[in-house]
Amino acid sequence: MSFDLVLFGGTGDLAWRKLMPALFQAFRHGTLPEGGRIIGVARDDLSHEQYRALIASRFGGVELAKRPSEDEFARFAAMLHFLRMDLSRPEDYARLSSMLNERQADTVVMYVATAPSLFTTVCEQLASAGLNQPQVRIVLEKPLGHDLASNRAINETVRHSFQEKQVFRIDHYLGKPSVQNLFALRFGNALFEPLWRRENISNIQITIAEDLGVEKRGAFYDQTGALRDMVQNHALQLLCAIGMEPPINAHADAIRDEKLKVLRSLKPWTAETLSQHVVRGQYTAGGVNGTAVPGYREESGVDPQSRTETFVALRTEIANWRWAGVPFYLRTGKRLASRDARIVVTFRPAPHAIFKAPMGAANRLVINLQPRDGLELHLLAQGQDNRRNAQSLSPVQLDLDFDRRFGSERVGAYERLLLDVIDGRLNLFVRSDEQEEAWRWVEPILDAWKSDAQGPRPYVAGTWGPSASSAMIAREGLCWSEEA
Ligand code: BG6
Repeated sequence: MSFDLVLFGGTGDLAWRKLMPALFQAFRHGTLPEGGRIIGVARDDLSHEQYRALIASRFGGVELAKRPSEDEFARFAAMLHFLRMDLSRPEDYARLSSMLNERQADTVVMYVATAPSLFTTVCEQLASAGLNQPQVRIVLEKPLGHDLASNRAINETVRHSFQEKQVFRIDHYLGKPSVQNLFALRFGNALFEPLWRRENISNIQITIAEDLGVEKRGAFYDQTGALRDMVQNHALQLLCAIGMEPPINAHADAIRDEKLKVLRSLKPWTAETLSQHVVRGQYTAGGVNGTAVPGYREESGVDPQSRTETFVALRTEIANWRWAGVPFYLRTGKRLASRDARIVVTFRPAPHAIFKAPMGAANRLVINLQPRDGLELHLLAQGQDNRRNAQSLSPVQLDLDFDRRFGSERVGAYERLLLDVIDGRLNLFVRSDEQEEAWRWVEPILDAWKSDAQGPRPYVAGTWGPSASSAMIAREGLCWSEEA
């Protein structure tokens, strides 16, 4: 099968940080169909050779094991091409069209990794240039819009230009091996399903903690914030994977229908829950992994008076028969104590205690997303103390480390998702109605913040966020997983 992949934003941050390394890994693993072209598109004036050299220089920043040797890069580079385009000019799309017509590939992927403000222009122009035939697939990066209205406007334009089955809205968290393993755990094994409900589960925590700051994206991030950047998409998709009903089959729409139901069941916000169950924070100068780092307002591109949140913690519920009353805690932030993404499912304690056991230590399933990728089942067992006191139990873990089990050479999120686009598999992509529902749910939070004079609460870089976040969860007698 032949393919052309057109990468709008071909010299941008995402292209060289994530997409090119992922495409190279697919090439190295022999999974990228042979003879394809990767056409970088940008306003820069570059020849094919200069573009190849630019991409080669960027690979210097990639971790050693994923860096190509000279020979490998030379073979990969043969696929790389460049086209200079001004994305608002129809004649430039005509040039793209003739470049694509040179070989009439079976599949043409249009990957729009540009500023979101250009999405509608690109879609409209592609359609007017006739570049929306059935063999064309369009990939849209998040964030898709700034709020519900802008998201709808983008989806409306996309709908006019492409059929839904041609549209791949990417949320790279769905491509993470750990998230696929979550689907496998829940729907490939019968073990947990009977337990996976309000009668047995006391609460669920989803944490996506980053130790990085805003890096070189200060200006973009300052307009976006953690709620739009991480909660509206990644965190809610994880919540869906945890909370959804078993789909009737593994087809894209069966999965997406179930995720949509979860989003529709999220408890609507009230003035009280907005003030009690949502905490936003912003980092101040501190130290991360032993290195001093500036505060958010000192980052380049960020307004020195900025009220943008770099941290969000919130509590919600899925109001349906399976989950009614079970708190779901979501938390994400930049410049936290460590890079650590995990989901912790805490089961209810044994109904009648005949043993002495440390409080809150066991009865947990931990799904680790990163930096390690695996599962831990925390149980109580008779430990070293068994001679002294037969009634005393200690916490132990059943530990499944997927890297150790399957090797660390497993396919990364972008690699997996790019191959899915080329092969036309939509399972791990987000449908427009899911996205709109997620925006509908986060919008009251955005509105409440607009009129909240207090602004985000400060937290020192390298900690776990503002103290209000721990206070929120403590009100229910709980604590965040790192304190358990
Ligand atoms: C992106 C966000 O979607 O996800 C970034 O825009 C964030 O701000 C990144 O750093 C986190 O992804 P990962 O895979 O490194 O956890």
